[in-house]
Amino acid sequence: MTLREPRPSDLPDILAINAAALANYAQAQFTHPFRHLHPAAFECAMTHGPREKLAAAPDGTSFNIVLEDPETHSVVAWGFWRRNHGPAFTSKIDGYRALAARGPHVQDASDLAIITPSGGPIASAPNTNINININIDSGNSNGGVGEQAKPRELEMPAEVSPSASPARVRLSKICAANDALAHFAHPHWYLSHLLVHPAHKRKGYGTTLTLWGMQRARADGLPCLLTASIEGEKLYSRLGWRVIGRRTLPRLEDMPEAERAMEERLLGKAVVEEQFTALPPSVMAWGDRVEDYAVLEADGPDRGPQLTN
Ligand SMILES: CC(C)(COP(=O)(O)OP(=O)(O)OC[C@H]1O[C@@H](n2cnc3c(N)ncnc32)[C@H](O)[C@@H]1OP(=O)(O)O)[C@@H](O)C(=O)NCCC(=O)NCCS
Repeated sequence: MTLREPRPSDLPDILAINAAALANYAQAQFTHPFRHLHPAAFECAMTHGPREKLAAAPDGTSFNIVLEDPETHSVVAWGFWRRNHGPAFTSKIDGYRALAARGPHVQDASDLAIITPSGGPIASAPNTNINININIDSGNSNGGVGEQAKPRELEMPAEVSPSASPARVRLSKICAANDALAHFAHPHWYLSHLLVHPAHKRKGYGTTLTLWGMQRARADGLPCLLTASIEGEKLYSRLGWRVIGRRTLPRLEDMPEAERAMEERLLGKAVVEEQFTALPPSVMAWGDRVEDYAVLEADGPDRGPQLTN
């Protein structure tokens, strides 16, 4: 496999990996509960992140890295790291502090514009309100893509965002701000995205991309942090990462009654309750202790992956 920085022409491969790897991603169930009612909007939200990250001008704060199959020339894995350090990061954390101080009563959308989670799972939802009759092919709104169910027709209220109710989005962003203050407020490298195409899992590619960032962070003198998926947690533990806490999810009782009722009508009461009581992902750290570095030296100083070009 060739380890290299991505090129613009890699975008289709990366979007395909993103779609395949995240199709049943637990966190997407919470951030996009209406995903099966609005598949096009969900797809748009899912492709927005990779597009934006790959297009980011190199300014030393974000790093894309891919693995290319030398035979097919297709990209099979993508990693995206953020270097959270310096004045822009400090001012972002100050913004979180200001917002968190106001508690769950923030109403003004512009207040929330300052919240751009540091790569965490709470993505901001597109807020295009729509009012349409929609045919969906999955009656189980919490189910995976491709599940078979009878088509049904729903009339979406005008206030429904394609992604989630405004209250869910607002409360999620406040949680993200508090999580940032609790876990991500000091300078670090953040492993924001690690995606391996399902056909190429368990070949060591996720490990290679993770080691790449760990090596870079070490050279930079900064520790690493991430929010782990269930699949990822095992991989990171093997590389010496430690669970230092958990992300938080909004509490169902903080949802305004009208929006809660609307969600329950669209998704079903049990599904809404299940989503709000799910175990949030863990936060993991590596590189804040000298002994952590041993994993990079296990096979000699060159254990860390090197760029091929
Ligand atoms: C999590 C994810 C990135 C792991 O990628 P991966 O390339 O399969 O990871 P690796 O191959 O390096 O390691 C996975 C397992 O395969 C094993 N493995 C590695 N090389 C292997 C090989 N040649 N033969 C057999 N097993 C191998 C590893 O030991 C590891 O085992 P473990 O889970 O028991 O520790 C991938 O499953 C994924 O994209 N998931 C969806 C998105 C996601 O959850 N991303 C992480 C966000 S925090």
